[in-house]
Amino acid sequence: MGSYSEAFTQASDDREAFWLAAAEAVDWYEPPTTALDDSDAPFYRWFPGATLNTCHNALDRHLADGDEGRTALIWDSAMTGERRHYTYAALLDVVARFAGVLVAQGVSAGDRVVIYMPMIPEAAIAMLACARIGAVHSVVFGGFAARELATRIDDAEPVAVVTASGGLEPGRTVEYLPMVARAIEMAATPPRTVIVKDRPEITGSAADHAGWLDWDRETDAADPVGAVPVAATDPLYILYTSGTTGKPKGVVRDNGGHAVALTWSMKNIYDISAGDVWWTASDVGWVVGHSYIVYAPLFVGATTVMYEGKPVGTPDAGAFWRVIADHGVKALFTAPTAIRAIRKADPEATELAAYDTSSLQTLFAAGERLDPDTFTWASEVLGVPVVDHWWQTETGWAIAANLRGLEPMPIKAGSPTVPVPGYQVGVVDAKGTLLGAGEEGNIVISLPLPPGTLAGLWRDEERYRNSYLSAFDGYYLTGDSGYVDADGYVFVLGRSDDVINVAGHRLSTGSIEAVVASHPAVAECAVIGIRDDLKGQRPSGYVVLKSGVDIESETLRSELVSLVRNEIGAVATFRDVTVVPALPKTRSGKILRKTMRQIADHEDYTVPSTIEDPDVLAALAEQLKG
Ligand code: COA
Ligand code: AMP
Repeated sequence: MGSYSEAFTQASDDREAFWLAAAEAVDWYEPPTTALDDSDAPFYRWFPGATLNTCHNALDRHLADGDEGRTALIWDSAMTGERRHYTYAALLDVVARFAGVLVAQGVSAGDRVVIYMPMIPEAAIAMLACARIGAVHSVVFGGFAARELATRIDDAEPVAVVTASGGLEPGRTVEYLPMVARAIEMAATPPRTVIVKDRPEITGSAADHAGWLDWDRETDAADPVGAVPVAATDPLYILYTSGTTGKPKGVVRDNGGHAVALTWSMKNIYDISAGDVWWTASDVGWVVGHSYIVYAPLFVGATTVMYEGKPVGTPDAGAFWRVIADHGVKALFTAPTAIRAIRKADPEATELAAYDTSSLQTLFAAGERLDPDTFTWASEVLGVPVVDHWWQTETGWAIAANLRGLEPMPIKAGSPTVPVPGYQVGVVDAKGTLLGAGEEGNIVISLPLPPGTLAGLWRDEERYRNSYLSAFDGYYLTGDSGYVDADGYVFVLGRSDDVINVAGHRLSTGSIEAVVASHPAVAECAVIGIRDDLKGQRPSGYVVLKSGVDIESETLRSELVSLVRNEIGAVATFRDVTVVPALPKTRSGKILRKTMRQIADHEDYTVPSTIEDPDVLAALAEQLKG
């Protein structure tokens, strides 16, 4: 182990040496001689001139190292009871053949491929196959419905969509193919090819749609293809995430910086290396799944567990302990919501007694703040360090963490610990003035961001600048607020924009508002994220009816709930609708969402001086009192 302060100082003061040394852990065709290209700042590029292949680094290189018999991926489905083990050799074989299917369909380097899949190994196989041929994947979370899928297809303009016949949720099946068909109908630029992995539990199949291809048939017949060299600066993937408007942002990740940063993170943050069993209980549709179910564990030759199921109800609150025991998991990474769900179902953790979880050395949490209560409970029942760390889709890996493989630090409940080497975190006030220890404000990161972070937004330079770079000169705006204490520990308190975090899922209130506003009875509306004991936050809608409209509030509620479910997806968990006579606004017409949230959460609030009509706010406060 090294020392945190040495690594942090070197990454700040001698960035070139630090990241070129980290790059030595990656297999290159053309190794880098320069770490950072800042000639087009604020668009920074990492490892200019170098070439590599991400899939080669995840798979082929381990075979060359003689590790072909080691398990690369364990798929464990609590939904079907199945388990599958892929050695590195077996995973490479199927990835190379699926890459052959893509090539046969005319997919080439730089083309986009949308992957819309549940938690089955084929999701990871499709991602790695794209990386193998230099195609750019864009995975869309299976909990999103047709319209969200269509928006992403329109923006990424994929030549192919790779999907499955459906997903399995407790008590129901989710038929994907009607949604894919609808999304393609809605999209302005439909893909040439649709490839479907058929699941026996689902009724629909590729055969129901003219011209759609069956995954198994195509893969069985395909010739394997090799990994092609791509530039370190070429895009590996686009991952859409919620912004403040209804239109998602296409975060672009490069190949080289991503491989270097994630490889470094496995050893230094997570203390995981070749042969260790690592489990990230998330979904491949989120950044956590991209980085830590698929790429990072394979880069270092570890065994990654992919789990289809929930923390509770599949079949009980012992599900996570069962997976740890069955596969000898060394470290688990999940969202605090999952721990809260287990605690709610089994407060005394009685299920734990049935399993031997002695392999577990660390529990990592991210996706939302790890509240001190949940931290304390998990630490007590598991008896291992419970480590919060903070990051975003945009950064792709942790901004602040307790670096367990570099130098473990004392844990402070409620804090993801310290900035990771490469990130210079600051807190500024509304004018951009740097604040001192303990002072709350906007959390920013000095430019340039380290390797592995976003290269930009897909084909939208202006939005990239406006969203992240223009608020405070020289800094990247995280969108989170918080403070840094006198020991340098970061405390992240919540978002300072209209993004909400529901069960670790990032959602835009703007996109929910757009759907609610489309209901014929609704004149205007506001959706805010209010506190929820289990999910952290949940969306809550406030609607003003058009004049003369007469509709039962329960009828309106259920129509709005199904509208949001059909348009955005079940994952939006939109259930609360309150009819109000008017929405509180500023004189310039901006809805006072923050004040509304404070009122709904029964927090203290001040009436903004810019308010248009204080009586509207007072009436709302009175209405929400109960
Ligand atoms: N495909 C289709 N539907 C999905 C889905 C998917 N991949 N994921 C979730 N949904 C559906 C659920 O079935 C549920 O539908 P319902 O309203 O019919 O019950 C709805 O979306 C809401 O899902 P969720 O918010 O996940 O709630 P839940 O009640 O099913 O489960 C938890 C609650 C806490 C168990 C669950 O949210 C969880 O495990 N969270 C961990 C968070 C996580 O992994 N975050 C990733 C970032 S690290
Ligand atoms: P996502 O892009 O979906 O990963 O969501 C990123 C957002 O989730 C961040 O901007 C934070 O608001 C929140 N978040 C993620 N991890 C943490 C954490 N450890 N503590 C507090 N907030 C977090």
